[in-house]
Amino acid sequence: MNTYLPPLKPITSPWMHSIMEDFKLQEAVLETYNSPVNLHHLGAFQDNIAEYKSILDTYGFKYQLFFARKANKFKNLIPAAVEVGIGIDTASLPELQQCLDLDVNPKQLISTAAIKNKALLELAVKNKVLLIIDNKDELDQVRAIAKSLNQTAKIGIRISGFKHQEAKLFSRFGFDVDAVIPFLEAYFKNPDTHEQLSVEGFHFHLDGYSTAQRGEALHQTLDIIAKLQHVNFPISFIDMGGGILMNYLQSQQEWNRFKDTLKQAVLEKHDPITYNNDGLGYRNRDGHLEGDLAAYPYFNENSKASFLKEILETTNTENKTVAQRLKQKGIELRLEPGRSLLNQVGITLARVAHRKVDARGNHLIGLEMNMSQLKSSSADFLLDPFISYKNPNADSEAVAVYFTGAYCLERDVLLKRKISLPQLPEIGDTVLFVNTAGYMMHFFETEAHLFERAKNLSLTNNPKTFSIDAIEEEL
Ligand SMILES: Cc1ncc(COP(=O)(O)O)c(C=O)c1O
Repeated sequence: MNTYLPPLKPITSPWMHSIMEDFKLQEAVLETYNSPVNLHHLGAFQDNIAEYKSILDTYGFKYQLFFARKANKFKNLIPAAVEVGIGIDTASLPELQQCLDLDVNPKQLISTAAIKNKALLELAVKNKVLLIIDNKDELDQVRAIAKSLNQTAKIGIRISGFKHQEAKLFSRFGFDVDAVIPFLEAYFKNPDTHEQLSVEGFHFHLDGYSTAQRGEALHQTLDIIAKLQHVNFPISFIDMGGGILMNYLQSQQEWNRFKDTLKQAVLEKHDPITYNNDGLGYRNRDGHLEGDLAAYPYFNENSKASFLKEILETTNTENKTVAQRLKQKGIELRLEPGRSLLNQVGITLARVAHRKVDARGNHLIGLEMNMSQLKSSSADFLLDPFISYKNPNADSEAVAVYFTGAYCLERDVLLKRKISLPQLPEIGDTVLFVNTAGYMMHFFETEAHLFERAKNLSLTNNPKTFSIDAIEEEL
């Protein structure tokens, strides 16, 4: 059968290459901080923020960006975001506490935590941090806390269940759009409630990456605001959450070829290109292909600008665009990007611990890291890694490998894809996974087997210099 392994070349940045090409530097970093290590380029993060601003500036309505901090735990990202004037979207009590400890202005903070206990609600109310309210129990508790502190709590109301193409976009989060108006009218009937709760805006975050759904949701939220005018809320914003697409890969042709080859492999018409011939969402039912690729759309042609344009130029039945309505009503658009602000911001380095050949003849390269330190919420992280060899040899034969991790689980295979390398790695060589800052490094990181969590470092402007204050713990 055909043994071809389709490549998926990632988009990379010069700073990444200067690390990749310096084996001595990698060796020193791994020696000092242990394997794996996460490196971050804060300049790239700030460039992404600047790009968002320059796109949004062209529309002429008010806007504010909040970095969705949950996408990466590296503490140094917080001051880097604040330094260039954006806020932080916090999703837990520790995330909020950390920002306050770092002296972030509470006006620049919001809490969108899915679960908010009393301690979180009290911290937010005491510090005048805006809370995005998900349900009536939260609302009741915030009201009681505000009353006991003799304060007015700043809140936004999270909504969901928008109608799109005659279907309802179901979500477990927020108040249902069909019930929220009568609910708020009744809840705020008593004038005292206005003293305890200041409703400053509405919030939603949609699953998936549909621009049409987001455009629709914004129109429907603007309609809700119009219908609630008589309740006299000091509404100033709509927060549309995150989910702005980013592109990881260089070539659409490679992406399509990969998907075609994977389908052929699942149908047993091509040698497996994934561990245990994992279909990554595709299934073989009696010789027929079922399912879809269950992975992030690692290749896509939507840039930040085009994605936002599609949303903001969605028209309503009166042919008004979202952008026109926001501007006309003086409503601020808030965004909470996570992944897309971390594009080209991070790489993960791991040391080769061993090589072996399994009973099927597969080369397995054991790395000093585990599956939780490079874990995608989708079926696989579909980017070719880079190898830095201590002893590169141009005459070596190419070899196809799987990378395996340190957890005692059969499934601790770091990338499910079989990867073609120009040379078999040796113990001590470095494997570099690129563009891992958005969700890949930390979101699922665990300390099973008492493994320590990976160290997070940042680079100064000279990409080869690691300053000691770049270590998270010493910020
Ligand atoms: C409420 C909310 N805001 C923002 C984000 C960030 O989304 P992304 O990283 O896709 O931009 C998420 C992600 O789950 C979210 O749930």
